[in-house]
Amino acid sequence: MSPTSPRGSPPDVGVLLPAAGKGERAGDGAPKQFRRIAGVPMLLRAIRPFASHPRVREIVVALPEEHASAPPEWLAAVMGDRLRVVTGGATRAASVRRALEALDPACVLVLVHDAARPFVSAVEIDAVIAAAEQGTGALVAVPVSDTLKRSEDGRHVAATASRTGLYRALTPQGFPRGMLAEAYAAAGDTLDATDDAGLVEAVGGRVVLVPGRTTNIKVTTPDDFVLAEALARP
Ligand code: CTP
Ligand code: MG
Repeated sequence: MSPTSPRGSPPDVGVLLPAAGKGERAGDGAPKQFRRIAGVPMLLRAIRPFASHPRVREIVVALPEEHASAPPEWLAAVMGDRLRVVTGGATRAASVRRALEALDPACVLVLVHDAARPFVSAVEIDAVIAAAEQGTGALVAVPVSDTLKRSEDGRHVAATASRTGLYRALTPQGFPRGMLAEAYAAAGDTLDATDDAGLVEAVGGRVVLVPGRTTNIKVTTPDDFVLAEALARP
């Protein structure tokens, strides 16, 4: 049980895990979310902190169609009342929308978390739930620490951009369910957003930042797998 979760609060949180991507930037043949990090599939690592959280009522995982109809054995082993699988869509946002439509109506708060972030901490999950419970959207974020350069052609520097006030948007992101549903309804079929808070912002919803950890990486490139193996070391 997560130490900072209020005991006795009802399990009213739904978790959507978009895991229907192709992992094109990761190289290799297998979808990156199924690849093992120190022996444990990335998706399973992303599921575990939510599956063990006392506030979580249901987890819906969006998978590529061929895997939704025949989930890998390690995923089938944890499927049941609290963890369901749906077929994702052509974009991340389309996958989230499908998962949201399938979510148990008793879930009044919704967290969305990238399956490609296998090192999310209980502290981050608790902070997002606590903020969303206040009626706003919330996302885990980290201040930008590198100096930023602008370049039109990828070689010649056109300008140095200020990093003051800039944050990297991580997941989980959490929302009162109605707020997220309204944002997706308003987005119509233009579903190219790479995060959910952006859709909520677009309909005027208030979104707050909660401090994230730089270890909550999104595994995107082959180099990220090297980093992930190091982070997974006991
Ligand atoms: N995702 C999804 N459905 C899609 C595309 C992405 O559910 N149609 C998920 C991915 O599986 C991942 C998360 O959204 O967990 C973040 O996306 P990203 O890191 O971009 O993963 P991929 O789209 O798989 O990778 P790439 O963009 O390199 O192909
Ligand atoms: Mg992608």
